[in-house]
Amino acid sequence: MIKLAPSILSADFARLLEDVKKVESAGCEYLHIDVMDGHFVPNITLGPGIVKSLRKDVNMVFDAHLMIENPNNYIKDFVDAGCDIIVVHQEACKHLHRTIQNIKSYGIKAGVSLNPATPIETIKHVIQDLDMVLIMTVNPGFGGQSFIESMIPKIKELKEFIDKNDLTVDIQVDGGIKPDNVAEVVKAGANVIVAGSAIFNSDDIPTTVELFRNNSNL
Ligand code: DX5
Ligand code: ZN
Repeated sequence: MIKLAPSILSADFARLLEDVKKVESAGCEYLHIDVMDGHFVPNITLGPGIVKSLRKDVNMVFDAHLMIENPNNYIKDFVDAGCDIIVVHQEACKHLHRTIQNIKSYGIKAGVSLNPATPIETIKHVIQDLDMVLIMTVNPGFGGQSFIESMIPKIKELKEFIDKNDLTVDIQVDGGIKPDNVAEVVKAGANVIVAGSAIFNSDDIPTTVELFRNNSNL
């Protein structure tokens, strides 16, 4: 059973709560919150203030994807804002182990994201402490980019590593996921599916969500 995580990057920021309520009532489990600082990625989005405002009216699992430099300095702010899962980039953490422990010290879930060029190898000594690994299937920074097909063997490699070591770690995929390629990533081992443009740009969100679920039912 997959979990669907609509990315608010493709929502209408002037109607953010209204848009988020649409995906919540369509049954999506996670709200994927893309935080960008204009340094780690060439785009700027939102901070903990907006997350805190949404938290009051939304019951979904808040999944913060921090695409920022020095994420360790902002963990507490995102915890206080009401995040349930915080995902940091391997490439942005000088002391990844310390940052993971910092997230977990607040009693919430911790995840690490890997850019397309970053190997699985770079997290193998910390993965036992993680709840989720995010395999980027586009280069982070923008919604609406094309899925990078060569990430399929990477998802498979991660799934094999997790199974071989008897770990319980979710595999999240993010970037270019649509109803017509979701089966491919689920078959490779992903179980938490981020979708931004495919869901928020849809004229009929409930039908699109249903399509994602039916197509990922292998
Ligand atoms: C990209 C973000 C994604 C993005 C996905 O840096 O991390 O979450 O919003 O958007 P789509 O699904 O449109 O590729
Ligand atoms: Zn994301």
